[in-house]
Amino acid sequence: MTANTSVAFVTGGAGAIGAAVCRALADTGAQIAVVDLDQQAADTVTAELGSGHLGIALDVADTDAVRAAVERVEAELGPIDTLINVAGWDRFVPFVDTTPDFWDRVIDVNYRGTLNTVHAILPGMIERERGRIVSVASDAARVGSSLESIYAGAKGAVISFSKSVAREVAKHGISVNVVCPGPTDTPLIRGMADELGSGDRFVDALTRAIPMRRLAEPEDIAPAIVFFASDGAAFITGQTLSVSGGLTMT
Ligand SMILES: NC(=O)c1ccc[n+]([C@@H]2O[C@H](COP(=O)([O-])OP(=O)(O)OC[C@H]3O[C@@H](n4cnc5c(N)ncnc54)[C@H](O)[C@@H]3O)[C@@H](O)[C@H]2O)c1
Repeated sequence: MTANTSVAFVTGGAGAIGAAVCRALADTGAQIAVVDLDQQAADTVTAELGSGHLGIALDVADTDAVRAAVERVEAELGPIDTLINVAGWDRFVPFVDTTPDFWDRVIDVNYRGTLNTVHAILPGMIERERGRIVSVASDAARVGSSLESIYAGAKGAVISFSKSVAREVAKHGISVNVVCPGPTDTPLIRGMADELGSGDRFVDALTRAIPMRRLAEPEDIAPAIVFFASDGAAFITGQTLSVSGGLTMT
């Protein structure tokens, strides 16, 4: 499979799933902008990828910072033809115990971050009549998830937004798709479970519920994202794909 990815902008690129995506895209020959809150972690992933890649620290919720980063990447690496939105954040909280500040942060990182990157990068893709956008949502958005109501809503917004933009830009040769990981063994889910005080019990319960009897690894998620970014997926747009070991079959 040849990936249609000469320059890829990967948010959350220093995280578990994001770094797996960066490695898989770099293997196809793409130059990667590893974009993350954490500069040191972004630099570490960038260095692992070899030369010709760029690590950038920003908050995806910051519209101006995203615009400046897009300008920098296009000046230093070239036009961005692949955007992968992986940055995300959540905590397990019953809805009645959530606060408006928590709503803002979850919506800002998980939904507004995607609006910011797509808004900054899409005009260039339209001009060049080519592009791939893949956003990571969650099966929480497709089937619901206790203690994750705000996050599930924000990820659901990413799915609806992606389908709508997919309709708008299909005529320009641009595809917009979504990958929904099921429970994946990463610091995000481990940290959330530990905060609940139920780390290993939580993981055991999930493992029993998943037909394939294990959590996903980041390397299980990355190939689906790379596929949507590839030339082979040129005629696929507006789709939502679960990668969940059979936990969800929607
Ligand atoms: N782990 C799971 O079980 C699971 C399940 C479904 C969906 N997801 C989604 O997968 C994606 C990756 O999650 P992960 O499990 O690899 O977690 P992770 O915490 O390892 O990675 C997330 C990365 O996003 C970065 N990030 C967070 N907020 C940011 C911001 N405001 N601006 C820029 N970068 C930011 C973090 O620094 C981190 O490097 C997220 O969107 C998450 O919601 C994860």
